[in-house]
Amino acid sequence: MDKCKKVKIFRFVPGSDLKPRFKRYSVVPTGDTVLSLILQIRNEVDHSLKFDYVCRAGVCGSCAMLINGRPALACRARLDDYGSALTLAPLPGFLLLGDLSVDTGSYFIRMYQNQAMNLHRTKEEEIAYALSCRHDNETMLRIYELDRCIECGCCVSACATAQMNSSFVGAAELLNAWRIMVDPRDPRDDEFWYRLYATDNGVFGCTALLACDSSCPKNIPLASSLASFRIALLKLGVTT
Ligand code: SF4
Ligand code: SF4
Ligand code: FES
Repeated sequence: MDKCKKVKIFRFVPGSDLKPRFKRYSVVPTGDTVLSLILQIRNEVDHSLKFDYVCRAGVCGSCAMLINGRPALACRARLDDYGSALTLAPLPGFLLLGDLSVDTGSYFIRMYQNQAMNLHRTKEEEIAYALSCRHDNETMLRIYELDRCIECGCCVSACATAQMNSSFVGAAELLNAWRIMVDPRDPRDDEFWYRLYATDNGVFGCTALLACDSSCPKNIPLASSLASFRIALLKLGVTT
């Protein structure tokens, strides 16, 4: 059986290349995953290829890219699940650094700034947070489920609303807001989240078509989480 893979890879380094293009490679893979194939191409064929990876285990989120048009983690994408032809491109919606490498970091820095994650608590709040106190299992399981985001950016890339409106905050930020809002240990009140996200660029800008949900490599329930967040903010709007 012919094990050769035909791979088309987007190539463009802003400020260096004149225009974007797809470059074709034919490779007999020595590994099982798309990431191993990209590493093989860079090591054996084309040292100039730019892409990101760290953990190779689906944990760091840095190897996300479009694989045959869909956002996915290259290190988790098994070659057997694709045909003999692969097309690889950078995640849309983020600043292109070069070839398959994009800047997802700025999105998440903005998210943390918006959500005041560097919030300075009062001494009393800090003590209350640090104290070991029992919470009901249901709440903690919900928090752990929402806390599995690896900040890969796939959900933002898959979202047509985010692509058309750069001010729309995107699924990952809405998810993180909901994760903190349901955490009884966090000192921010519900009005904080209402002021921040009950807007056309927040929950009400989301058209609920759910491309984010089907693109999350960690299978985080984005559909139900974003719906719950929207309902919570709607209720707050009615009662305040
Ligand atoms: S439901 Fe649709 S519009 Fe809302 S964040 Fe997900 S992909 Fe974007
Ligand atoms: S919610 Fe899922 S797709 Fe979105 S950044 Fe987190 S892990 Fe990636
Ligand atoms: S290299 Fe870390 S998630 Fe793929």
